Amino acid sequence: MDRPYSPAVDRNKGPIFEVLKEYLMDGNNLLEIGSGTGQHAVFFAEKFPGLTWVTTDVRENLAGIKEWINEANLKNIKGPEELKIGTDDFPKKPFDYVFTANTLHIMSWKESKTLFKLLGKRLREGSLTFFYGPFNKEGKYTSQGNEEFDRSLKERDPRSGIRNFEDVVNAMKSFGFKLLKDHEMPSNNRLLVFERLSK
Ligand SMILES: C[S@@+](CC[C@H](N)C(=O)[O-])C[C@H]1O[C@@H](n2cnc3c(N)ncnc32)[C@H](O)[C@@H]1O
Repeated sequence: MDRPYSPAVDRNKGPIFEVLKEYLMDGNNLLEIGSGTGQHAVFFAEKFPGLTWVTTDVRENLAGIKEWINEANLKNIKGPEELKIGTDDFPKKPFDYVFTANTLHIMSWKESKTLFKLLGKRLREGSLTFFYGPFNKEGKYTSQGNEEFDRSLKERDPRSGIRNFEDVVNAMKSFGFKLLKDHEMPSNNRLLVFERLSK
């Protein structure tokens, strides 16, 4: 099969790396949710050779991710494992970090809350979670492009849609996280960093 390819990943991986390098430390395990094509995993695993990057996604995407991983031939990428939020639990091993890009607006809000709950249950104090993607602020779109994107998402699946930053922060708080930083990213995206507080 041809490897799946996302031009958006080529555009956003550099700016995301500039943020992640402030936080990620060698010797730790990172769980990626909704790895998509597998391009982020390959790029970041090469940039962070001291980190173990575990890829996951729904079953339909696993073959494509495998193509990217096989081609990259990097020892520190694991998976892909099947993980559908709302159906599956995280893989058994403990994780220090969770990274997920462009997934909260694809999953339903119910699935997003299931993800937040799992994060609260499975992550230890001090673990970090990274959410990359578009978010609304105080219920308002941050650009016309995001408004049009939201409309197209909802046409495809009415349960999808750009989430409110405040709703994500409040829901994560209720599962034991504090927002460490809200990074503004190119093209009206954000990278939210949450820290797990003591249980
Ligand atoms: C827009 S793509 C983003 C893929 C990749 N992270 C990126 O930034 O290019 C959304 C991803 O979320 C995944 N996804 C959707 N619903 C999911 C669920 N319930 N559990 C896990 N992954 C899900 C899709 O399979 C897809 O890989």
